[in-house]
Amino acid sequence: MIYARVAGTGSYLPGAPVTNDDLVARGIDTSDAWIQERTGIRSRHLASPEVTSSQLAQEASLRALEAAACTPNDIDLVIVATSTPDYIFPSTATLLQARLGMSNGAPAFDVQAVCAGFAFAIATAEKFIRSGSHKRALVVGAEVFSRILDWNDRGTCVLFGDGAGAVVLEASERPGILATALHADGAQNQILCVPGQISRGQVTGDPFLRMDGQAVFKFAVKVLSDVAKEVAELGGVPLDAVDWLIPHQANIRIIQATGKRLGVAPERVIATVGAHGNTSAASIPLALDAAVRDGRIRRGQKVILEGIGGGFAWGALLLEY
Ligand code: ACO
Repeated sequence: MIYARVAGTGSYLPGAPVTNDDLVARGIDTSDAWIQERTGIRSRHLASPEVTSSQLAQEASLRALEAAACTPNDIDLVIVATSTPDYIFPSTATLLQARLGMSNGAPAFDVQAVCAGFAFAIATAEKFIRSGSHKRALVVGAEVFSRILDWNDRGTCVLFGDGAGAVVLEASERPGILATALHADGAQNQILCVPGQISRGQVTGDPFLRMDGQAVFKFAVKVLSDVAKEVAELGGVPLDAVDWLIPHQANIRIIQATGKRLGVAPERVIATVGAHGNTSAASIPLALDAAVRDGRIRRGQKVILEGIGGGFAWGALLLEY
C-alpha cells in the first residue's frame, strides 16, 4: 500500500504584523475591540505592492523543501492553491517552478477553490501519489488577498491577510494521508465572491471581495463539522482519537463553534487566525507549519485538516503525521 506522507512543511508571512490599531491609524472606521470580539483577529501580514503570490510561495516552499531534506528537482508534481494568482495565466505553479529553478519537466498547475484550495490541492496530490504515477509533490497555498479587498468596506477588509504555506508530500509505505473528502455547492456562489472580470482591457463587474458574513458563518460551522466527521469515519479513526484539528482560519468563533459541535477540546484545536487573519488557501498550511515547528504536532499523531471557501467549496483530510 502506498501512502502520501508529509515529509516537510514550511510557511512565510510578508513583513511585520499589522495590528488592528494600525488599521484604525490608517483611517479604517473600526476598533481593536470590535475586531477581536467578533473574529479573534489581533493582527495580520500585508504584502507590499510589488510582492506576488509566487514570491510568497517560493519562500514557503524553500522552507518545506529544507524540512523534507530534498531539492527542487526531487519534486515531480507542483500544485498551488490560490485565488490571487500573479497573472491570469500562466499558472502561479509554473511561476513557482521557475523561481525554484526546477528543470525536470514536472507537471505544475493551480487549483482554485478559494479558502478550500489547500484541501483540494493536497487531496489531488494524494491521488497522484497513491496511484504510483508520482513520488514527491510540492503543495502550496499562497495568497495576496489584500489586493482584492475593498478597504472602504470595514465588514470585510479587517478579516484577511497575506501569506503562504507549503507541504512536501512523498510516497511512503508508512501511513500518511488516511482519508480525504471534498464537496462543493455552486448554489451558494453569491454569499462569498469577487464578482468581476477583465474584459477588453477593462475591469467589468466588481473586482472586490463581497460577503454575506452571517450566511457564511452558519454555512461554515455546519459543513466543517459534517466533513470532519465524514473524513474520520472514512479513515476509521474515531474523533476522540484525533490528536489535532486544524480548521480553516477565518474566524475564532467559527473555529470554536466547529470544535464544540465535534466534541473536540479547545486545546486540541490549532488556531493561528489571531496572528494571521484569514489567509484563504494559505491558512491551513500556515497553521500546520506553526504547530509542527513549535512541537505540538509530532510524528505518529492523527490530524484533521479542513477548509471551506467561496463556491461554496469545502473539504477535509485525515492524516497520520
Ligand atoms: N468595525 C466596527 N464595526 C463594524 C465592522 C468593523 N470592522 N464591520 C461591521 N461593523 C458594524 C456594522 O456596520 C454593523 O453596525 P450597525 O449595527 O450599526 O449596522 C455591526 O457592526 C454589525 O454588523 P454585522 O455584519 O451584522 O456583524 P456580524 O456580527 O455579523 O459580524 C462578521 C460580522 C465578523 C463578518 C461575522 O458575520 C462573521 O464572522 N462571519 C463569518 C465570515 C467570515 O469569517 N468570513 C471569512 C471568509 S469566509 C471563509 O473563509 C470561509
